[in-house]
Amino acid sequence: MDHAVSVGQRRKEPEVMRRVGLKMALLAVVAFIAPAAAWDGLNVKNCTWCHGTSGQGYMVAPRLAGQRPAYIFKQIRDFREHTRDNPFSRQYMWGAVAALDPGAARDLAAYFATIQPKPANDGDPTLAAAGRTIYMEGIPEANIAACYACHGPNGVGVRDIPRLGGLAYFYLKARLEQWGQGYHSGVGTPMPIVARQLGPAEIEALASYLSFVR
Ligand code: HEC
Ligand code: HEC
Repeated sequence: MDHAVSVGQRRKEPEVMRRVGLKMALLAVVAFIAPAAAWDGLNVKNCTWCHGTSGQGYMVAPRLAGQRPAYIFKQIRDFREHTRDNPFSRQYMWGAVAALDPGAARDLAAYFATIQPKPANDGDPTLAAAGRTIYMEGIPEANIAACYACHGPNGVGVRDIPRLGGLAYFYLKARLEQWGQGYHSGVGTPMPIVARQLGPAEIEALASYLSFVR
């Protein structure tokens, strides 16, 4: 719909600008249609109507934009196999990926990974410095590992270790709490052991800090 608007606006401009404008609009339409067509009729809107425009996250559905493709692929498998059993995972994701074959899952993971992620910026700014210290250094005396060691600088992630920088405060907090409450994510992930040692204040600080990281 954006394309129609931009073409309309260009009509008021001089002839040269108008032609360039139309060409740009056509290119934009082609670029918009091309990736969706690659999925045998599978529509990215099946995901973005919950995960928000461009996969930037919406309400309880986390941002997928810029997430590590290997991590997205693994989570889809874990939803399908019901090993990721968080309340919202059961409620929303078990059904959403039930009919997704591995090829389509891989294509969707690759698609979302290429979108530039935007930070949620919705944590408590006064807790960000404390969160950053835990992220970078852990809490050695409490045996809490540095998140940095696995999730990397600015929480960008690597391979199937997820990007954390800029995810929503509410989502990060819920994930960290739920491991401590005995919910699972994938098989063999270190996170239940890491998260079980975190208290409520530490979780709030970490989730606040990470929501601002870009
Ligand atoms: C009905 C709403 C809904 C639909 C449709 C939906 N999702 Fe989700 N998705 C969610 C919610 C809610 C969560 C958070 C689950 C949790 O809190 O454990 C989630 C979580 C995820 C995660 C985990 C992200 C992370 O950071 O761990 C991935 C990956 C994912 N969805 C991919 C998809 C894909 C791909 C599609 C389309 C095939 C899709 N989702 C469709 C609601 C939805
Ligand atoms: C030993 C490596 C390691 C350390 C240390 C570690 N993580 Fe993780 N983290 C992982 C892996 C691997 C996953 C993916 C889990 C899965 O596959 O389900 C993950 C997942 C997460 C997620 C889920 C993200 C999402 O999109 O749902 C959060 C949040 C998280 N880690 C936060 C932290 C925090 C905060 C710390 C520091 C207190 C930390 N991690 C320390 C390896 C680590």
